Amino acid sequence: MTEPVVSPQELGRGFPAGFRWGASTSAYQIEGAVAEDGRKPSIWDIRCRIKGKVNNGDTGDIACDHYHRYPEDIALMRDAGLQVYRFSTAWPRILPRGRGAVNPAGLDFYDRIVDATLEAGMEPWLCLYHWDLPQALEEVGGWVNRDCAFWFADYAAVVAQRFGDRVKHYITFNESSVFTIFGYSMDWAAPGIIDKAAHLKATHHVNLAHGLGVDVLRDSVKGASIGCVHNNQRVIPETDTPENRTAATLLDAFWNHAFPDPQNLGHYPPQLAELMEPYVQAGDLARICRPCDFFGLNHYGPIFAKADPKNLWGFGWGSPPEDAPKTDMGWPIFPEMFTEELVDLTRRYRLPIYVTENGCNTGDVPDAAGVVNDPKRIVFLTRYITAMLKAIADGADVRGYMVWSLLDNFEWGSGYGNRFGIIHVDFETLKRTPKASFRWYKDLIAAHRAKG
Ligand code: NOJ
Repeated sequence: MTEPVVSPQELGRGFPAGFRWGASTSAYQIEGAVAEDGRKPSIWDIRCRIKGKVNNGDTGDIACDHYHRYPEDIALMRDAGLQVYRFSTAWPRILPRGRGAVNPAGLDFYDRIVDATLEAGMEPWLCLYHWDLPQALEEVGGWVNRDCAFWFADYAAVVAQRFGDRVKHYITFNESSVFTIFGYSMDWAAPGIIDKAAHLKATHHVNLAHGLGVDVLRDSVKGASIGCVHNNQRVIPETDTPENRTAATLLDAFWNHAFPDPQNLGHYPPQLAELMEPYVQAGDLARICRPCDFFGLNHYGPIFAKADPKNLWGFGWGSPPEDAPKTDMGWPIFPEMFTEELVDLTRRYRLPIYVTENGCNTGDVPDAAGVVNDPKRIVFLTRYITAMLKAIADGADVRGYMVWSLLDNFEWGSGYGNRFGIIHVDFETLKRTPKASFRWYKDLIAAHRAKG
């Protein structure tokens, strides 16, 4: 990648007044303390214990130890001048068995997070589900069981009642298509069940849970702003063959439409309608399609898809073109597709968009003096934030941006080798070191805020 041609100050000043900047994290990826203060296992605690599912046998047992070190992390966010902190609550910390008895110590922890976030001058954005289903619910079918949608609504009610006085921004689900495709058709995520009916049922029940959750939040939190986070990105056939085109079309329906379409347009995409039909009960689509206040977008780069007869649905992940720019971990970098996506999503769903995740994975290591320079991340962020600015000029209604991620953290099946943070974490000592990209982001935010 070439050097950025625009300074963070110049880039920051280009954004409209009122645009908000933040960072995102998720509970299982940073908290650790998995057996502390009454928390019970989630499906990811279980998956991490199965040999071969996570690189290097890594687990979230300690992660960034944010559970104990959150004051330092929030102080760093304040230092960066962030306006928004997006985090998730761990369902198995709040309701250790998924339903029934509430764990007061779990709620107390998030009280501390919310209060410290507000105290640091940031808006807390609370995501209810970032993939850590209580294992006790998995044992009775998890998302494959329709009841799970109603248990989710009960969990949403507990959270809303406790935090609704201070937290006004809520996200029901994070990247539903990722955890359902990877968890029920590919064994790349928990619970690792490969079964078509299970995948389709889980898809529908998560949609239902979203709709029920929106209603609960709307009824319980005065002035709430509610949305769902999706992971829309272009799905491109690896090479232009009829088989790859068919695979890409089906993957696109599952990846980009299976959740945002029913939630915001009231129907499943045509490629999935017939498949979903056996699981959709009368009135479900009306319960799923509840008015939202924003569309959360997590975006990294396009997917190059190919036909894969060994896959349950016949689609697989191909390789990006050899000459395509890529992150250290091989993810393709195409900022112009981010611009297109933002414009298309604005037209399709007619909601304000918040970019709830964007960032890149690098292999950062501190130098001899302990300094972490991550020039590739700065180039990546410059190019993607420039692309977002262009999208706004082209008519996209983008209101805010949250970098993924605040901290290097547990990157699911890749373990700790894949670093996304603007703050380096030494996973031996748990020492935090803000990277060069942290200072770059801080400069951008300061310049934008100085505009008034
Ligand atoms: C999206 C997911 O929400 C997050 O958990 C993950 O770490 C990042 N993408 C990077 O893969």
